[in-house]
Amino acid sequence: YIIKADSVKAHVQPTMYGIFFEDINMAADGGLYAELVKNRSFEFFPSLMGWTEVKKDGGEGSVEVIDRSKERPENPHFVTLTVKSNSGYYGLANEGFRGIGVKKDETYSFSVIARQHADSKIELHVELADANGTVLGHADLKPGNQDWEKYNVKFKSNATVQKAHLNVYAKNAGAIDLDMVSLFPEHTWKNRPGGLRADLVQKLADMKPGFLRFPGGCIVEGRDLATRYQWKKTIGDIDKRENLINRWNTEFKHRPTPDYYQSFGLGFMEYFQLAEDIGAEPLPILNCGMACQFNTGQTVPLDQLDPYVQDALDLIEFANGSTDTKWGNLRAQLGHPVPFNLKMMGIGNEQWGDNYIPRWKIFIKAIKDKYPYMKLVSSLGPDPDGEKFNFLNNTFRGLNADILDEHYYRSPQWFLDNSKRYDNYDRKGPKIFAGEYAAQSVGIASPDNKNNWQCALSEAAFMTGLERNADVVNMASYAPLFAHVDGWQWTPDEIWFDNLRSYGTPNYYVQELYSLYKGTDVVPLKLNNQAVSGQNGVYASAVTDSKTHELIIKFINSGKVSQSAGFVIKGKKLKSTATLITLRSDDLTAVNSLDKPTSISPVQRTIQLSGNKISLTVKPYSMNVIRVKLS
Ligand code: AHR
Repeated sequence: YIIKADSVKAHVQPTMYGIFFEDINMAADGGLYAELVKNRSFEFFPSLMGWTEVKKDGGEGSVEVIDRSKERPENPHFVTLTVKSNSGYYGLANEGFRGIGVKKDETYSFSVIARQHADSKIELHVELADANGTVLGHADLKPGNQDWEKYNVKFKSNATVQKAHLNVYAKNAGAIDLDMVSLFPEHTWKNRPGGLRADLVQKLADMKPGFLRFPGGCIVEGRDLATRYQWKKTIGDIDKRENLINRWNTEFKHRPTPDYYQSFGLGFMEYFQLAEDIGAEPLPILNCGMACQFNTGQTVPLDQLDPYVQDALDLIEFANGSTDTKWGNLRAQLGHPVPFNLKMMGIGNEQWGDNYIPRWKIFIKAIKDKYPYMKLVSSLGPDPDGEKFNFLNNTFRGLNADILDEHYYRSPQWFLDNSKRYDNYDRKGPKIFAGEYAAQSVGIASPDNKNNWQCALSEAAFMTGLERNADVVNMASYAPLFAHVDGWQWTPDEIWFDNLRSYGTPNYYVQELYSLYKGTDVVPLKLNNQAVSGQNGVYASAVTDSKTHELIIKFINSGKVSQSAGFVIKGKKLKSTATLITLRSDDLTAVNSLDKPTSISPVQRTIQLSGNKISLTVKPYSMNVIRVKLS
């Protein structure tokens, strides 16, 4: 293999490898958003979903759900607990999201918005308990006010339990109103109160992602327009964020999740903050006046599109505007006076066809007129080899689109076959965002799909083609990102978790290796003057990194026999040692798991070089990253 280390073919964009976040598979509520109480504001249907009546020591009472939709349309329900006994405890238990995961010695912060009825002196006693009823930690509260007020109390758990529950007891005869019943671990990402699950964010931060795309995915579109994602409803006080039935709630009839709602505790402010925390460029995707074309496919008449377009313009002002602007000022009030420096936005998720283009044109004109610097992402739909996809590609090319969002959920073989996809792509038109992709071991979104090594290896091979063509492919992200082992709708997924633990799949490690070692400049790597893209089952690409002064080679052996690989490096001198990072398994069906989270994970060793040559025996079924300092 000949590498011309001084011949730059393309620059690798800092945004090249990023993250696609969607609230699917309990990625937000029950996942990244660390709230432990399910249905905290009684907005699910039925209103007491996730809650059961509990009594102890002879306590008696009743619970009533009150509807105040006229007064508080965005948070219409609360409960009244009436205690009828003078002794004992009466109340509600919350089951959490597939249980509440608690850790020994962790501090938990309970809060509730409560209103004491006249002449009542109800006291609250809250406790975490395991399945046998053993109390793990508890605290007492005396809500004194007859107007709504927020009360907080903290307590520790004395044990680690995967599926605990929360009892909220009232004592003393009388009545009290409760809303926003909440429990968070004190240890969250950056220890922000009401924040995000630290282990999950850490996995994202470890990837050093170039961008964070949010909030989806199909949930951007909604099943119908009424249930589309509306960012303005996801910011500010959490008790004023209107809940929504998650679009994935009953998507798959054989594994419905009727308790899947969006509380929007993870809303747009949190997404921007997350992107900033992990050093990723924010990439919001907005509804373009079309509901999901796999569902109702509703469209807004063109003459009624204004509010949708206004949402996009206002979002840019919210992210970037000075504090003198309406939306920039709101951002400051929410705690972030400094702009988020938004540079990109997506118009529609997986849209296609005749309805998309006229709406797309209106959005593009309005945004570019006001914010010419914004790069806009346009959807090509979900069928990467289909006619509509090509039609849209040509159309958008003619309309000078900035970035085209391609999605590929295909077989491992498709990924191997498509490593040359961009080799002869038209360089003059829009850039490519490989916005959602994942090899499917069985079929698209089949419940039997596995995050196995065969899939990850095929993605690694495919990605050599993305990297080789970094002049046209500017961004790429695996999808979906997260899945709760007891609450998923779609598989495969990049990171799996339960209530306490999480693990990166082999696919995660492929993404991480590309992202960490993306380099700054693509240099030619050739065999017999050809790009290395499937010869003898080998796929390879090379970059240099002007910051670390390294040459970085990605070399994927997709075959079942070892390969002798000799690299001759031209144009630059190498230091005498290199680092070889290998990700591999002999078994293509191998997976990682909660119990064996790093079965397939990068292993690093030093190799000696002779002059400007690198000679290696490359293991079967392996992804290899060779990093060598240039002298
Ligand atoms: O990633 C899961 C879904 O796949 C996304 O929501 C959608 O964009 C695609 O169809």
